[in-house]
Amino acid sequence: MQHNLNPRLAEELRSVAVVPVLTIEHEETAAPLARALVAGGLRVLEVTLRTPAALAGLGRIARDVPEAVVGAGTVLTPAQAQQAIAAGARFLVSPGMTPRLVEAAEAWPVPFLPGAATPSEAMALSDLGYRVLKFFPAEPSGGVAALKALAAPLREIAFCPTGGIDLDRARSYLALPNVATVGGSWVAPAAAITAGDWATITQLAREAAALRLSR
Ligand code: 3PG
Repeated sequence: MQHNLNPRLAEELRSVAVVPVLTIEHEETAAPLARALVAGGLRVLEVTLRTPAALAGLGRIARDVPEAVVGAGTVLTPAQAQQAIAAGARFLVSPGMTPRLVEAAEAWPVPFLPGAATPSEAMALSDLGYRVLKFFPAEPSGGVAALKALAAPLREIAFCPTGGIDLDRARSYLALPNVATVGGSWVAPAAAITAGDWATITQLAREAAALRLSR
């Protein structure tokens, strides 16, 4: 059975409320970015595998910022998953699921968070033992109203909505009982990363981290 059943993943996600979704264009920005987020209270970080620097950046965070729990996002293939694990990823996230991914995931030594956007997708993953799912793309897929509706029939599934979420929307998602955490890039804007404006990122992280207190 997959490690998604590992209750530690759900606990860890619930305890942080917000997971920053990071796009790393330059490897050398990765560690200062991670430190800025951790300083603001967000320690679980998702590095998307969408840029040439992503894997090296993930590796820097894993090595140089031990207080962070860093995972890889946008995992589309088993090969990417292996590369991310080798770079130090502590968890893996995909926008969806494919038969190839879920088969390979059985052997991964870290928890996997596959994505679902419909009841059928969520049910298929739940059948395979996945009880913590990414809900993607959250806003275009119906947002808070959709997740509220899913909570009634799919009681055993916790969701991590991502896609189009900001601080205000995050608050509404986190008020739902079937939301473990929310993910988003709003806490790490590209302009602030490029400018090395770590103070702004720490402030955004602080505001996001405060959401957990209102849960
Ligand atoms: C993701 O990649 O998981 C999401 O697209 C991040 O979405 P956002 O940039 O709208 O927060």
